[in-house]
Amino acid sequence: MTNIGSYDERVKNFSWSIAEKELDYKDGNIINIGWYCSDRICEQGKGDKTALYHEGFTGEQRKYTFNDIRLAGNTIGNFLRKLGIENEDRVCLFMDKIPELYLSFLGVLKIGAIVQPLFSAFGDESLYVRLENAGTKAIITQRKHAGKVRKIIDRLPDLEHIIIVDQKKDKALKEKEVAFNLTEEEPVEKIDIYPTKADSPSVLHYTSGTTGQPKGVRHVHYSLISQYLTTKWVLDLKDDDIYWCTADPGWVTGTSYGIIGPWSLGVTQCVLDKGFSADSWYKFIDKYKVTMWYSAPTAIRSLMKAGEELVKKHDLSSLRQLASVGEPLNAEAVIWSEKVFGMPFLDTYWQTETGCMMICNYPGMKVKPGSMGKPFPGIEGVVLDPKSYEPITEPGQAGLIAFKPGWPSMMTTYWNNEEKYKEKFVNGWYLAGDRSTIDKEGYFWFIGRDDDVINTGGHLVSPFEVESALIEHEAVAESAVVSKPDEVNMEVVKAFITLKPGYEVNDDLELSVMNFIRKKLSPLAMPQEIEYVENLPKTRSGKIMRRILHAKEWGEEIGDTSTLEDD
Ligand code: WT7
Repeated sequence: MTNIGSYDERVKNFSWSIAEKELDYKDGNIINIGWYCSDRICEQGKGDKTALYHEGFTGEQRKYTFNDIRLAGNTIGNFLRKLGIENEDRVCLFMDKIPELYLSFLGVLKIGAIVQPLFSAFGDESLYVRLENAGTKAIITQRKHAGKVRKIIDRLPDLEHIIIVDQKKDKALKEKEVAFNLTEEEPVEKIDIYPTKADSPSVLHYTSGTTGQPKGVRHVHYSLISQYLTTKWVLDLKDDDIYWCTADPGWVTGTSYGIIGPWSLGVTQCVLDKGFSADSWYKFIDKYKVTMWYSAPTAIRSLMKAGEELVKKHDLSSLRQLASVGEPLNAEAVIWSEKVFGMPFLDTYWQTETGCMMICNYPGMKVKPGSMGKPFPGIEGVVLDPKSYEPITEPGQAGLIAFKPGWPSMMTTYWNNEEKYKEKFVNGWYLAGDRSTIDKEGYFWFIGRDDDVINTGGHLVSPFEVESALIEHEAVAESAVVSKPDEVNMEVVKAFITLKPGYEVNDDLELSVMNFIRKKLSPLAMPQEIEYVENLPKTRSGKIMRRILHAKEWGEEIGDTSTLEDD
């Protein structure tokens, strides 16, 4: 029996109060995600149950029970409080997928502060932009990443504390640095959980938009309601499951479904802090007897490349359900997984902004390979006519994906950018920024993004951010950034540049440009290819026509450029 039962029945009888009741939450009550993910599970008598199996890149293993994560959350929360961190202060988590990342997440929330997770592969400039924007007060990090913080600390007047989790206490530390080692701390049995309410801010995730400036998506504690229920109904997690979410908590999948979802349900999860290899992933599934696996299309395509023979070398019989998110999941990948794992990857569609899954394939519902599925019960999802912004009723017609606001984990604003937030709404609909069709049976079929944002391997990259980094180089006159097709990542970043007079293309120059932007961009945003050109295609008014460059890369019709000239 699946948790969701019949999708159609759930749609008919839906109310978010189903989740509220299961979580013993009533309107106006205190709701604190940190408490729900640890203390409450212990109160239910599951304190000795394993919450986390962790394996580091050296193969070192650690295990934490729900009582362990409760105590660790308390200890970290208490430490932060003593440093002077108050509710709604921003605390950045800047760590690899080490246990302290997961435990600090709970600790920060327990004291009512806002947790700002950032991907640890970010360089100092990417880090700076996000800490500056959020006015972050403290950052929790590792020795190996502290150097990046030191480089920018002088430009961050709000940043008061750099907490290093793997530093011995007696080590000499730099200004504002403080050592905090969980193994050396006395576990704190009880702390006063901050009485956060439904609309109290919880998590601040940064995402790329069309402009260079990343946007801070602000979520609230009430988001728990939909993260809990989607985990239960879509991922179908049950008490004895062993769950593996491969996403990094620097991104929303890694928090909504890599921390909050499973732990609020009291489910055991495992984490592998190691780069991708098909063999080590299969070994991991076998070793921990993973039953439910939530991953991403780029990883799945890499597994496909590694081949079926490798799958047969491992015992993957523990698996009972697979799901995917982040980018289009090709029909071939779904069919392949049915063949080699005996079950399809269930595609789910959502965004940093939506906080929870929005359009999904459900256990028990017919899968149409290549389709994202149907809206989660209680979510009103449509495609809008791009001109009138009215819902399209004709099946198969392309439109803009939009949702009726009001689900619990919807973002509440972009940090310090209410204007950009407001732009996301039209005619009472939230515009996701993607295009899709809906077929006769209500299944959504993804077409593409409605803006220039590039989705490379599930990570959004703003072309403007890359272009801005490029033109800061002394030799670069102009740049245009588009995507180009890629077998594994679906699309990758490609840059075109023209040089200033007096410069010429040679190995030294190319190296100098690459080294220059590497310092400014996250590794995910780095162009895979830079093409040096004499001129860029432009409109008569001087705007660069990325569309032409894009069409060329994708072997598409360029179309009538004469009409574009006056763009
Ligand atoms: C964008 C959101 C929330 C998970 C991580 C990504 C694209 C997401 C799918 C899917 C096709 C998808 C969309 C969306 N996307 N899931 N199943 N099929 N495209 O979060 O970084 O905020 O990106 O990723 O374009 O708008 P994100």
